[in-house]
Amino acid sequence: MLQGIFSDPDKNITVLTGAGISAESGIPTFRGPEGYWTVGSKEYHPQEMATFAMFSQHPDEVWKWYLYRLSVCGDAKPNAAHLAVVEMEKLFQDRFTLVTQNVDGLHLRAGNSPEQTFQIHGNIFFMRCTNECRQQLYPLPMEILPREKDQELSDSDKQLLSCPDCGTGTRPHVLWFDECYDELYFKFESAMTVAANTDLLIIAGTSGATTLPNHIANMVFQNQGVIIDINIEENPFTELAIRSLGGDFYQMACSEGFNKLLRLIKEE
Ligand code: APR
Repeated sequence: MLQGIFSDPDKNITVLTGAGISAESGIPTFRGPEGYWTVGSKEYHPQEMATFAMFSQHPDEVWKWYLYRLSVCGDAKPNAAHLAVVEMEKLFQDRFTLVTQNVDGLHLRAGNSPEQTFQIHGNIFFMRCTNECRQQLYPLPMEILPREKDQELSDSDKQLLSCPDCGTGTRPHVLWFDECYDELYFKFESAMTVAANTDLLIIAGTSGATTLPNHIANMVFQNQGVIIDINIEENPFTELAIRSLGGDFYQMACSEGFNKLLRLIKEE
């Protein structure tokens, strides 16, 4: 089943990644103690920090948290798993699509094309006008980094974080927990269209905690597609993969799982 897909020019392959693929680049999931953030005397969990509600009340604190996270993982490099995904795009060309939940930008830095990479939770290296004046993405000014954990935003920092078009404030280009997917910024409809035409879905390094990845996996399963789940531990996608026609669960690190797939592709 699996091999037939690699060599069939009419078959489409989609890779869906989560934080696990960046773990091997040393990027923490921020779910551990280092992810907590103190505002005043209260300690906040990442799921509380990464919200529009928190940004509305404490915009500077939310920016400080993101900029500190960027400093922590700013020098992270793409790892072997990212490079294997680039090789897959080169092998399968327009039969290939990458959907990632990661906001670290490592897939693009590894060499995947922006046109075939759907960053469905955004990209922390970009910001948007809080008034959405032009509905544009602006690159984050890198001169604002590095940051210490409790470094206040100076007036020049706030100038760097102002909208280049209208001068008002900006926000990180990230989908927050209290916000919804859309097509304009997060490719929602495009991702579902790709899912409806996917013959092989490779899910890698994700706990299945968010809705769009679940919609994608269920769509492929209902269309009798093949699902491969690569994860160091069982997760909600594991059973779907095993029950899919010709699917499998690779209980291993992403780098190992993608290299195993590349070997199968080259055996054809
Ligand atoms: N190789 C393979 N899988 C790994 C590895 C590895 N080296 N390291 C960790 N994992 C797996 C974990 O077992 C877990 O299932 O990666 C998954 C990471 O899960 P999460 O931290 O929940 O990340 P993710 O699934 O991407 O989260 C989805 O939720 O936190 C929000 O918006 C955020 O994009 C994120 C979304």
